[in-house]
Amino acid sequence: AYYYKNALADEVIFVHEGRGELWSQLGKVAFEPGDYVVVPRTIIHQLHFEDGPVRLLIIESFSPVETCRRYRNHFGQLLEHSPYCERDIRPPGELVREEGEGDYLVQVRKEGQLHQLTYAHSPFDVVGWDGYFYPYAFSIHDFEPITGRLHQPPPVHQTFEGNNFVICSFVPRLFDYHPLSIPAPYNHSNVDSDEVLYYVAGNFMSRRGVDLASFTWHPSGIPHGPHPGTVEASLGKKETHELAVMVDTFRPLYLTETALHYLDPRYPMSWNPDFVPDPPRSADMMD
Ligand SMILES: [Fe+2]
Repeated sequence: AYYYKNALADEVIFVHEGRGELWSQLGKVAFEPGDYVVVPRTIIHQLHFEDGPVRLLIIESFSPVETCRRYRNHFGQLLEHSPYCERDIRPPGELVREEGEGDYLVQVRKEGQLHQLTYAHSPFDVVGWDGYFYPYAFSIHDFEPITGRLHQPPPVHQTFEGNNFVICSFVPRLFDYHPLSIPAPYNHSNVDSDEVLYYVAGNFMSRRGVDLASFTWHPSGIPHGPHPGTVEASLGKKETHELAVMVDTFRPLYLTETALHYLDPRYPMSWNPDFVPDPPRSADMMD
């Protein structure tokens, strides 16, 4: 087993399936499904998984991943209207004990290349550490949704931010409770961002093409919104059990060649009234 370091980017690892521990010289962070594991750049670490399927959404950020600025006071503390607080953040605990000489392979990722360094001692074999640069975990299940009488704008789901992008959590919550509210969001086109949604749990399976672990990508400037029939079907609905992670980027995204193999060419046509073979999906309830 090797050790890994991302030299240039912070990583946010969303654990869809799998549980285990992240080890670093700062100690162990246990994780389970629903956790965001935030690993700042240059932290040498290993992921240790228990048996069972593993499915991760990994977001690389070339700027620091931070909590939302508007939820912090000038001391950096999270304010009372923040959807989560410091007590929800799980820092490293028990230290890793790895002593003795040997060949310890550290793979360093930089500019799309992996560089191999061999250490004579475990990179976790340290005397101690000091400071507040460390990996941590935060569970999406500890994100307290912000709801209202009228439709709340997407920033209420924001969980993290970096330069030019945000990560949002769509979690089980009550719908808008004005007596005349329409729970389904309205059609819109994102002026500022490309919008990527990753579907974690809920009944997305009700629609072909948007299954668990699917991605949708709505580029900025392209209108989108609920599928036909969704607005009517949403009337009177009180709550949703969906779980999804959204990444909004304020610069255009481009597909990789690998991603091209997974394209569902029918998706852009799925708003066509002739198309509707499936009932509305709960994914329609997300902005
Ligand atoms: Fe949108």
